[in-house]
Amino acid sequence: MYEVRDHSARAPRLPAAVGRAPWLERWLETCRDLSELTASHPMMDAVIDEIDGRMIRVGDRWLADFASCNYLGFDLDRDIIDAVPAALDAWGTHPSWSRLLGSPALYEQIEERLTALLGCEDSLVLPTITHIHMSVIPLLAASGTIFLDERAHKTIYDGCQAAKARGAAVRRFRFEDPDHLDELLAAERDPTRLVCMDGVNSMTGNPPDLVAFAAAARRHGALLYVDDAHGFGVIGERDPNESSPYGRRGNSIVRYAGETYDNLVLVAGFSKSYSSLLAFIACPTEVKQMLKVAAPPYLYSGPSPVASLATVLAGFDVNERRGDALRARLHELTGRLLEGIDRLGVATPNRSGLPIVEIPLRDHKRIADVGRYLFERGVYVTLAAYPLVPKAEVGFRMQLTAANTEDEVDAALLALEGLAERGLLRTRDDAIGTLVATG
Ligand SMILES: Cc1ncc(COP(=O)(O)O)c(C=O)c1O
Repeated sequence: MYEVRDHSARAPRLPAAVGRAPWLERWLETCRDLSELTASHPMMDAVIDEIDGRMIRVGDRWLADFASCNYLGFDLDRDIIDAVPAALDAWGTHPSWSRLLGSPALYEQIEERLTALLGCEDSLVLPTITHIHMSVIPLLAASGTIFLDERAHKTIYDGCQAAKARGAAVRRFRFEDPDHLDELLAAERDPTRLVCMDGVNSMTGNPPDLVAFAAAARRHGALLYVDDAHGFGVIGERDPNESSPYGRRGNSIVRYAGETYDNLVLVAGFSKSYSSLLAFIACPTEVKQMLKVAAPPYLYSGPSPVASLATVLAGFDVNERRGDALRARLHELTGRLLEGIDRLGVATPNRSGLPIVEIPLRDHKRIADVGRYLFERGVYVTLAAYPLVPKAEVGFRMQLTAANTEDEVDAALLALEGLAERGLLRTRDDAIGTLVATG
């Protein structure tokens, strides 16, 4: 048995309810499920003591990690790790200038290579996607109208809220429904239109029909803004000789869908497939020039650490040399998991075969028990508790990476079988609500 750590010491120390401010009371009530889980559950807010490949040690228990988004396994790649010391010798640990003041030449190299990989006109890198959404969405929307995918990632929502505070209107269109977007755009009189949505969905693992969404946006003169945090590095341009159905080169959803960057800006990051801290926007050069004087993270935020810049550059090399083989491996492992899930008759919204596999529960109140069962069997996943997702959609998410093994996948399937036998998982015959994006 694993030793359950006493997480109570990490539970928030809050004043007694009597006299507690009403706003604080409201937040505590909204987040009660999640804060109780975080304070008491070994699979939430855990301290990871050690890693060995894709195995992680929490206290005295080793678990197979299916919560990492390091899809290509670059976090463990020797060629990438070895690239860091020379960059630190040359540049120190952290440049500290905001990009407006100056950027190490590494930035130029990254933007050049990224632009070539994506096949776009130009690109700009900033530390995180969250920085980009919060600063770029308000600039692109101005005081116009944003059409927001109702299931868009929380960080896109937040960017739209910032735009709203600066005079934009926000309207929502139904998830995976380009016809609804088309209808809303056709009825809109505001000439400034921005459509914001996800690429590969961070919960369902499915890509949208980008061709249909781009056509609707172009038909009505709207700019399409797509966040492909989970697709970049995994999916890419199609080729008859591709080593897997994920396509080649991992150059993201626009190339995967055979689309163009015409009236489309792509946002994604290196913090998932490339295991680094950096993000980008692919856009026309004139938009990049505007962002260099108007986007607050370019002007005021600290930059990414040198180790991150170095691992991105080394990641481009590894992607060129071995990326397609890693994606083929990722596809194979994901297939093994999805086939096993199918044999068990367990429901998942994943229709794409991409390495994000959400498993919804029959009863949201059992999330802590399900998490404990998985933990005891050495399987580490992302618990999607309320309010991260609506109560009807509570479950857990498993991501595969090229660094997982067949044995780890089989251990996970055995645990899933146990959960299914106990009636805790939805079956394919139960209706699956469409899952909302959390992470
Ligand atoms: C779809 C999506 N967008 C944005 C983010 C946030 O990315 P970042 O950590 O670069 O801000 C995430 C993170 O999980 C994500 O899944």
